[in-house]
Amino acid sequence: TTAEKGGFEHFMLKEIHEQPKAYRDTMRGRIDVSGKHVVLPELKLTPEQIKNIRNVQIVACGTAYHAGLVGRSVIEQLVKIPVETDVASEYRYRSPIVTPETLVIVVSQSGETADTLAALREAQSHGAHVLAITNVVGSSIARDADDVITTLAGPEIAVASTKAYTSQLIAFYLLGLYLAEVRGTQTPEQIAHIIAAMQALPEQVEKMLSQADAIKDFAEQISKHEDLFFIGRGLDYAVAQEGSLKLKEISYIHSEAYAAGELKHGTLALIEDGIPVIALATQESVLEKTVSNIKEVKARGAEVMAITFEEHVAGLLKSVDQAFAIPKTLPILTPALAVVPLQLLSYYASLARGNDVDKPRNLAKSVTVE
Ligand code: G6P
Repeated sequence: TTAEKGGFEHFMLKEIHEQPKAYRDTMRGRIDVSGKHVVLPELKLTPEQIKNIRNVQIVACGTAYHAGLVGRSVIEQLVKIPVETDVASEYRYRSPIVTPETLVIVVSQSGETADTLAALREAQSHGAHVLAITNVVGSSIARDADDVITTLAGPEIAVASTKAYTSQLIAFYLLGLYLAEVRGTQTPEQIAHIIAAMQALPEQVEKMLSQADAIKDFAEQISKHEDLFFIGRGLDYAVAQEGSLKLKEISYIHSEAYAAGELKHGTLALIEDGIPVIALATQESVLEKTVSNIKEVKARGAEVMAITFEEHVAGLLKSVDQAFAIPKTLPILTPALAVVPLQLLSYYASLARGNDVDKPRNLAKSVTVE
């Protein structure tokens, strides 16, 4: 009924709208009153152990894996430790180098995904400390892990994950800042600066949600296509991968996410007249390069929609057909905002195609077989 959907037509739309609350709830109690420190009292990992970490491995499936791709950049940038991110079904079989100085982070909304649980056990058998980021207290993964950071997204019903993903990003930011403080890899000023920007995220998401109609129009256009591309560099590439998965899951439109600079090494052959390309262009250090890649696809007839900051809209509109502005934040935090228009895009594309948004064909909310 629409009552249990909080007045929304689908659980997915309700859950997209619950993200500001999920961000606040996941941050609550984990930032001290001064706004200068992240506190994670739930962690058993000692400062001594944290100082001894030599490498981090993040393991997950599906959307949680995409959160792990963001997590990799966050930890590498903030904590300066090498990080690998793997899909759980591959991790165990590639002989990963796991030692007692390895911190393994498993990410799982449900805490019940069989592949992720198996990866957790594999890591523990090599003596690694396993920290789980999960949304379900008391789940198998939460019980078996050595440490747990619970995301407080609330129950997620729609098969396509939205608020769980963004809450996982918040968990990675909190963890990254905490580890950075213990290891002294960021100054107190840098930490306070990132915390302040994080605290602005919930309101920024609210602002984007109030502009959903612009996305709806574009979604209706793309719903008539069978193929499309997402491109981006750095963290934009990680977000592009999640945007592409979301679209495939519920609209059944084939899409690929490409690192914008890699397109010319093969995939550019698929760009033809009228094909939609969604360009994530928020990472300012590589913005010019992304613009060159946008020009490559435009020259071959693509219809390009860019997602960027307001200040770059006018400039980008010289090379793209449409642009959607997201509120300004720090580069490292951008995924927590840039993914929202992509969630709305897949939602409205699925709706335009008359699909069962909350229960896509062939997929299950939680996969408990390997
Ligand atoms: C299933 C769901 C995906 C989800 C993945 C991992 O395939 O359909 O939406 O991302 O499992 O789930 P987890 O609960 O481990 O995050």
